[in-house]
Amino acid sequence: MNPDRIVITKEQLATRVAELADQIAAHYSGSSEPLVIVTVLNGAVIFLADLIRGLPMRMKLGLIGVSSYRGGVTSRGARITSRLDPELNLCGQPVLIVDDILDTGGTLRLVQQEVAARRPTSIETAVLLRKPGKAPSDIKVQYVGFDVDDEFVVGYGLDYDGQYRNLPYIGALEA
Ligand code: IMP
Ligand code: MG
Repeated sequence: MNPDRIVITKEQLATRVAELADQIAAHYSGSSEPLVIVTVLNGAVIFLADLIRGLPMRMKLGLIGVSSYRGGVTSRGARITSRLDPELNLCGQPVLIVDDILDTGGTLRLVQQEVAARRPTSIETAVLLRKPGKAPSDIKVQYVGFDVDDEFVVGYGLDYDGQYRNLPYIGALEA
């Protein structure tokens, strides 16, 4: 049941997530408004939980559900399955979008558009993982945990067919 190869260990994840939190905290330290963190369900929840405990500033949390149509392990487009709480005010607030992995960019394009429509003062994006060279250059991410090879990875929130999210490390599934 376990993936065949560990790609990022539990210790490497902890170190890097703490570094990202420090970087994000430094960036928003002068903000007079609380940071609104918009998290993409379900894959980003473990990353989110570790990240925000390293953020000392005032913040609020919003969740958005996005499902990418996947044929096996390849992305074929994204759709919103659960909308952001309409009562969560984004207008005039700084927003940080948090997702698990940037692959083709379809998911983040949708979420960035959704957030932008609610007129925040700024939008930045943090992803734990990025598969280099696949997303179009207009999909901007300011914080990246790790660049990974173009292979299917699971664990620390990421799934294959709904499973493996609870693994404490990132592993690769061999085809
Ligand atoms: P994109 O829309 O193609 O950028 O894909 C992003 C979404 O697809 C992520 O939020 C993940 O949920 C999922 N995804 C992409 N690559 C992987 C992977 O290697 N393992 C697990 N999920 C992935
Ligand atoms: Mg996802």
